[in-house]
Amino acid sequence: MTTHAVRMPRLNLSAPWRDRQGAFSPFKLAVLVALMLPALWVAWLAAGNALGPRPITEAIHQTGLWAIRILLLSLLVTPLRQMLRWPRVMLVRRMVGVAAMAYALSHLTLYAADLKWDLAKLVTEIALRFYLTIGFVALAGLVALGVTSTDGWVRRLGGRRWQLLHRAAYGIGVLGLVHFVLQTKVDVTEAMLTAGLFLWLMAYRLLAPKGGAPSWPRLLLLVPATALGTALLEAGWYGLFTGIPFWPVLQANLDVGFGLRPALWVGIVAAGMAALGMWARILPGRAKVQRRGRSPAT
Ligand code: HEM
Repeated sequence: MTTHAVRMPRLNLSAPWRDRQGAFSPFKLAVLVALMLPALWVAWLAAGNALGPRPITEAIHQTGLWAIRILLLSLLVTPLRQMLRWPRVMLVRRMVGVAAMAYALSHLTLYAADLKWDLAKLVTEIALRFYLTIGFVALAGLVALGVTSTDGWVRRLGGRRWQLLHRAAYGIGVLGLVHFVLQTKVDVTEAMLTAGLFLWLMAYRLLAPKGGAPSWPRLLLLVPATALGTALLEAGWYGLFTGIPFWPVLQANLDVGFGLRPALWVGIVAAGMAALGMWARILPGRAKVQRRGRSPAT
């Protein structure tokens, strides 16, 4: 009788709080706990009947908000590595991306629960409502990136192709934001703030030289550029979808009497990032820190 050696695929299922060498990483554990906190908070409120008169709707909103916020956080990991010359931050990039996918999947699950698990209705709603169709495409993209985020897929595709595929995260971000803005009925403040922060993340990448952080004058340039971009987006949205004139909305951004508009918040965050970038440059010894640990799937 002949025996055939069966080659089992190697699974890399190390616990999420371990680093690539298998050692316990307090940093990874802290990020994991932080990523779980919003879900635990929503579950806690739900258990105490404190989610308001329409608890499932509120939970749909919360999970959607956290999906897009965490997606943006995953896009912040590379700028942090480059600006702070902090290669270890890459250890959590995969975890943050997978968390965005998990929040988006629970968002869809809650929506299905809201439709009393009527799957035919779910499919029809997604097919007929434009903002849901866009959300679905974004979710499908997130799942594709989540599935291919493992070391096995990096090897299978090769680092270069893997990185190209994972640039789809930018397009998924745009779709998630369009979905967010389109479902907003009255106040687009939070959607515009999120869009403005996404604008910074994209503009940062445009200005960054290959593999490094943009120079500090470029980081400073991002302050007015992203604030103005956010103000234009907001004024454009009100002009197009509500008939409120473009110029008064644009001017309202300069008047803090209305409270801080999203453009000003984005400017403040961009200024903070520029300050962080400059601080990292003048820190003694940091410049020598190598760019270790740049495996794409960390
Ligand atoms: C099949 C996929 C999806 C479905 C069926 C879906 C469904 C929904 C629904 C029903 C709402 C509430 C709309 C309302 O109250 O009128 C919503 C809001 C929202 N969704 Fe989704 N969504 C999907 C995918 C996504 C994805 C992938 C993201 C983010 C990456 C996302 C982020 C959001 C956000 C930020 C909100 C607004 C929350 C708020 O304003 O409080 N959704 N979605």
